[in-house]
Amino acid sequence: MRSHVITEGSTAVSEIVVGRSLAAAISDAAAQGRTKAAVLCQPSTVHLAEAFATDLRSVGMDVTGYTLPDGEEAKQLSVVETVYRMLNERSFTRNDVVLGVGGGALTDVTGFIAATYLRGLSAMYVTTTLLGAVDAAIGGKTAVNVDGKNLAGVFSHPEKVFIDIDVLDALPNDLKVQGAAEAIKTGFIADMEIANAFDAGISNVDLESVVNKAVAVKVAVVNDDSKEHGRRAILNYGHTVGHAIEVATPCSHGEAVSIGMVAAGAASASLLGFGGADHQRALLSSIGLPVAAGVNVKSSQLRALIAMDKKRDSSGLRMVLLERFESPVVVSVDDATVRTAFDAIGLDS
Ligand code: GLY
Repeated sequence: MRSHVITEGSTAVSEIVVGRSLAAAISDAAAQGRTKAAVLCQPSTVHLAEAFATDLRSVGMDVTGYTLPDGEEAKQLSVVETVYRMLNERSFTRNDVVLGVGGGALTDVTGFIAATYLRGLSAMYVTTTLLGAVDAAIGGKTAVNVDGKNLAGVFSHPEKVFIDIDVLDALPNDLKVQGAAEAIKTGFIADMEIANAFDAGISNVDLESVVNKAVAVKVAVVNDDSKEHGRRAILNYGHTVGHAIEVATPCSHGEAVSIGMVAAGAASASLLGFGGADHQRALLSSIGLPVAAGVNVKSSQLRALIAMDKKRDSSGLRMVLLERFESPVVVSVDDATVRTAFDAIGLDS
């Protein structure tokens, strides 16, 4: 078992535990000094959530379970309000805990609920996808979607995040592939050993090693800039175009980020002389991630969505680009660069 710690100043604010067979550790942490727990899950994690609820009841806790809609459908204010009312009915206090069991969308909304109900009670996450483990669950970003993705949220760290490698090893390959996009992104911006691990093919990757390396990178970046005033923005490599693709098409977050990285790689080559764009595309493609936007995407729609990007400022659009692998920069991009990025993913500009 390995523990990664997020700090504010010299105070530890969140612990990320990576290991195997973590059920007892999870129940012990949730029950510690508390009487009530709300266990939130998604349809695919009901079985795991029920096992935690049973463990918590067996040590005397009053447990309320609730299954949220699947994926991004959970990240709606109407869903949040339903959970608030449930917590009201059960008279939750600030001493109680909300345990989110699921992927990145589920932990995003769990964190939002816990951060805002009664102005904040403890959250714990059990991360059941690779994407959640290497990115979404780490670093205290909570969110719901309002027109654009993640446009309402607060920074609030869960008390603990548990990543059980046995759960990740058992994932179907398509979910591993989606998570691989965020892991590889972390590799491109900070540690190429993570990206290179995927040369072995998606079924042969040592997930424990990849997750520990990716969490270590993310924790270091977040400890440096937790509220994204500067350096943390590098974690959004591939996300400017990626978020727009995700809103405009039925593709998953990981698939959208893969396409977004191809676009950002081409923009990096054109603006900064980055020489790794072909390598990026080949690696992403080799594990089954998409590298083009698809015929139904309109560049005008993507442009409108990109204009809502959170990294925009008064001078216009800013993107995370690479000077070299492991050397990201956040730069303002002009229209010609956006056209180059769109060309690379097969879009007419
Ligand atoms: N997913 C990017 C971040 O946590 O900052």
